[in-house]
Amino acid sequence: MNILVTGGAGFIGSNFINYILSERDDVFIVNLDKLTYAGNLENLKPSEGKKNYQFVRGDITNNELVDYLFKKYSIKNVINFAAESHVDRSILGSEVFYRTNVIGTNVLLEASRRYNIDKFLQVSTDEVYGSLGATGLFTEQTPITTNSPYSSSKAAADLMVQAFHHTYGLPVVITRCSNNYGQLQFPEKLIPLMILNCLKDKKLPVYGDGMNVRDWIYVIDHNKAVELVFEKGRVGEVYNIGASREMANIQIVKLILNKLGKTEDLIEYVKDRPGHDRRYAIDSTKIQTELGWKPSFEFEQAMEYTIDWYLANKTWWERIISGEYQKYYEVQYGNR
Ligand code: NAD
Ligand code: DAU
Repeated sequence: MNILVTGGAGFIGSNFINYILSERDDVFIVNLDKLTYAGNLENLKPSEGKKNYQFVRGDITNNELVDYLFKKYSIKNVINFAAESHVDRSILGSEVFYRTNVIGTNVLLEASRRYNIDKFLQVSTDEVYGSLGATGLFTEQTPITTNSPYSSSKAAADLMVQAFHHTYGLPVVITRCSNNYGQLQFPEKLIPLMILNCLKDKKLPVYGDGMNVRDWIYVIDHNKAVELVFEKGRVGEVYNIGASREMANIQIVKLILNKLGKTEDLIEYVKDRPGHDRRYAIDSTKIQTELGWKPSFEFEQAMEYTIDWYLANKTWWERIISGEYQKYYEVQYGNR
C-alpha cells in the first residue's frame, strides 16, 4: 500500500512514520514535507534508509510536484499532517496558515480526485469546535466555531474535505484530536517550552490566569488512533480523538517545575493570548465504540517519558532554539 504522508518531518507526522515503519512492512511511505521551521529530518532517523520509505522536500501547495508524486509513486492513499500548527504564530501573521492549511489541502484533494485514490485522511483538531465553558465535551456533532486564524484555517480545510466527499464521492475520513505531547515536539508549544525554560532557569510565560484547560494525549496514542481510522474508519465520517485528561495550564507548569526540582518563582503571568479559547475537552466515545480504540498511556507516566526525553536529547533542541526560532521567541515574549 503506497501512502503519501504530508508533514512527516514535524512532531506528530515524524512520530507517526517512525511508529508505522517500526510495526509494518506492508506499506510504502512517501513523506512530502516543506521543512519549514517546524520540520526536522533528524526526527526521522529511525526510518531513514528503510526500503519502504522515501522523503521528498516540497510544498503541498505545489500542484505540479504533487501531481508528479501521485503519478511516480502510484499514490492511492493520503494522510495529511502538513500544516502551520501554532496558534500564536497565526495571530502574528495569518497568510501562510491559509496558504498551507487551506490551499495546500485543496491541492491534495484535487490530485486525490484525479488519481481516484482509495482513502484520504485529514488530520484535524478539536480547535475547530471553538471553546467550552466549565462543563460539557466536544462531540462530532458540536458545531464548528473558530476563534483563531489557525483554527479557522483547519476548519476551512475540514469543510472542504467533506465537500469533496459529498460532491465527488472522494473516500475521506477526518480525525479531530486534542492537545498532543511527547518526544520531538517543537519547543514553541506549552509543554516543551516550559521544560526548556525551566532547564535554562528562564521565566515560564503563563498566559492570562493560567486556568485555560486543555485535554492532553500522548502522541503515540494519537497516532495509533490515526492508523485505526485510516484502516477502519467509515468513509465520510469524523472521529474525535482524546484521552480524557483535562489539565489547567498552570497545573502542567507546576508539574514540570516539580519534576525538574525548580521553584514556582520562575512562573511569570503574561498578557493573555488574544481570542484565547478557555477550555477544550473531547468526547471520544465514537472511536472507542465503533473502532475499539482506547488510549494506552497514562498521563503521569507519559509526561515522565517526555520530560526525560528532553533531558536526554539536549543536542536536538539546542540546534532548534538557535537562529530562526530565537527571532520568533523575541517577538512573542520579548527578552524574558
Ligand atoms: P508541526 O508544526 O510540528 O509540523 C508540521 C509539519 O508540516 C512540519 O514538518 C512542516 O515542515 C510541514 N509543513 C508545513 N507547511 C508545509 C507545506 N506547505 N508543505 C509541506 N509541508 C509543510 O505540527 P504537528 O504538531 O506535528 O501537527 C501535525 C498536524 O496535526 C497538523 O495538521 C495539526 O493541525 C494537527 N494537530 C496537532 C495537534 C497538536 O497538539 N500538535 C493536535 C491535533 C491536531
Ligand atoms: O487542541 C489541539 C491543538 O493544540 C492543535 O490543533 C494545535 O496545533 C496545537 O498547537 C495545540 O494548540 P494550543 O494553542 O492549545 O497549544 P499551545 O501549546 O500553544 O498552548 C497550550 C495552552 O498553553 C494554551 O491555553 C495557551 C497556553 N500557553 C501556551 C504557550 C506557548 C501559555 O500559557 N504560555 C505559552 O507560552
